[in-house]
Amino acid sequence: MRAKASDTDLGAISADVVVVPYFQGGPVGPSAQAVDRALDGLFSRLRDDHEATGAFPKRTPVATLGKIPAPRVVFLGLGRPQALDGYRLRNALQFTVRETRRFGRSLAVLVDESVVAALTAHDPIQGEPAAVARAIAEGVALGNYHLGQHKTGEDAGAIEELEVVGLGTATQVADALVEGAFLGEVTNRVRVLQWQPSNHLTPTQLAAEAERVASDGKLELEVLDQAEMERLGMGALLAVARGSHEPPKLVSLRYRPKSRAESDKVLALVGKGITFDSGGISLKPNPGMYTMKGDMSGAAAVIETMSLIAQMQAPIQVIAVAALTENMPGGGAIKPGDVVSAMNGKTIEINNTDAEGRLVLADALGFAADRGATHLVDVATLTGGAVVALGHAATIAMGTSPELIAQLRRAGAIAGERIWELPLYPEYDVALTCDIADLQNSSGTPASSSINGGVFLREFTSDLPWVHLDIAGTAWHTAALWDTVVPIGPSGVMTRTLAHLPFQMV
Ligand code: BES
Ligand code: MN
Ligand code: ZN
Repeated sequence: MRAKASDTDLGAISADVVVVPYFQGGPVGPSAQAVDRALDGLFSRLRDDHEATGAFPKRTPVATLGKIPAPRVVFLGLGRPQALDGYRLRNALQFTVRETRRFGRSLAVLVDESVVAALTAHDPIQGEPAAVARAIAEGVALGNYHLGQHKTGEDAGAIEELEVVGLGTATQVADALVEGAFLGEVTNRVRVLQWQPSNHLTPTQLAAEAERVASDGKLELEVLDQAEMERLGMGALLAVARGSHEPPKLVSLRYRPKSRAESDKVLALVGKGITFDSGGISLKPNPGMYTMKGDMSGAAAVIETMSLIAQMQAPIQVIAVAALTENMPGGGAIKPGDVVSAMNGKTIEINNTDAEGRLVLADALGFAADRGATHLVDVATLTGGAVVALGHAATIAMGTSPELIAQLRRAGAIAGERIWELPLYPEYDVALTCDIADLQNSSGTPASSSINGGVFLREFTSDLPWVHLDIAGTAWHTAALWDTVVPIGPSGVMTRTLAHLPFQMV
């Protein structure tokens, strides 16, 4: 998608669709007023009729019948101004583009001071013209994602040209539009991987995608096969892999800054890459099991983030580590009660084979520390409890470094992604108590389920500053109710946040 900034007036915009954001309740901003005048009061009429209410994210498309050069306008409700943040702005645009891209290949978005003021009131950083521009470009690019990749004969179409009117034409704004388009497009690449059926995306195929990212971004690449994992003592990852015919892979990509690094920090991004999670012998129930093709969302995010890191020239060293395997109940599968030993020597009783994410991450975290990481961030669709706790609107964070969590939250604000912290009080350690091994992988109760996952992972962080991101709620959703809040399907969550993180660490 090409993206440019302009300050053209309405009569000179030739895009196929013009998006006109406005708010619920508050006064109508100058750009919506201008459109209203040009369309002979149509917008006022729609408001009087309670059609254009401004509720989030109400879309009201109209044909302009030659009154302005652009053939269509979509009035886009952004909800109440006090509630607007970068996350909601991106989602509103995503909804809009998803249903209007059939009208044509070019789109203009009118922004005026009402939008900038609402974002600034929420967070001055998000209200800067460049930040608003990046948010809009990302929202539009994200709207180009489509679910039907395996449908034959369908051309979903995509927006190829974006014009953002009203933020000025300064270099920072123009650059932010280009960067936002790119960030959105890489996020879409993650979404494509996430929703790829497991027979189209095996651990071997995801490792091949990591090789492509490495060669495009001139990154160092390591791919461990089963024999190498055995030599390194990765008994936890290998335990999960045993029930499947698909060979496991552990992939690692390394970025080194071209000029001398601004600090000697080495950030490791560690992703859970279960290309299908059947639960193993602790088999999952049938309804919804197909969604477990997305259980590699963390791995896809860390792999594709590396192409952003290379492109944006992060100021510190970054490595991505992705633990890739299926979790299947084949004849060789681990069984509840089996005991294995992880790369760091700790022994684990596997009393639930469906708590497999923490097992593969245990060895991936050990590997990252072994390869010189000074800071660890893991990303995983780890617990159904994440959905219970926060639904689909925020990622859960927990960890041992308040500083790293604060940096992640700043990166999340830049990316328009929400992160909410849960505590790791010492009382939660009881979840690990085990009579026959150092640890157990499941407490056997649903209480504090997401936190128990974090408490387990902490045992494998080599005392490095570490944050665990549980994206089980935010990586995707399939619930019609939520489709009015955040778009249905995979989200590519945390890709952009992780790309911004290294810049927050210097
Ligand atoms: N991949 C699942 C978690 C999940 C659930 C992700 C729903 C996305 C949506 C994970 O491997 C799992 O099965 N977790 C168990 C852990 C439990 C057995 C301790 C869970 O949350 O039930
Ligand atoms: Mn599982
Ligand atoms: Zn899983």
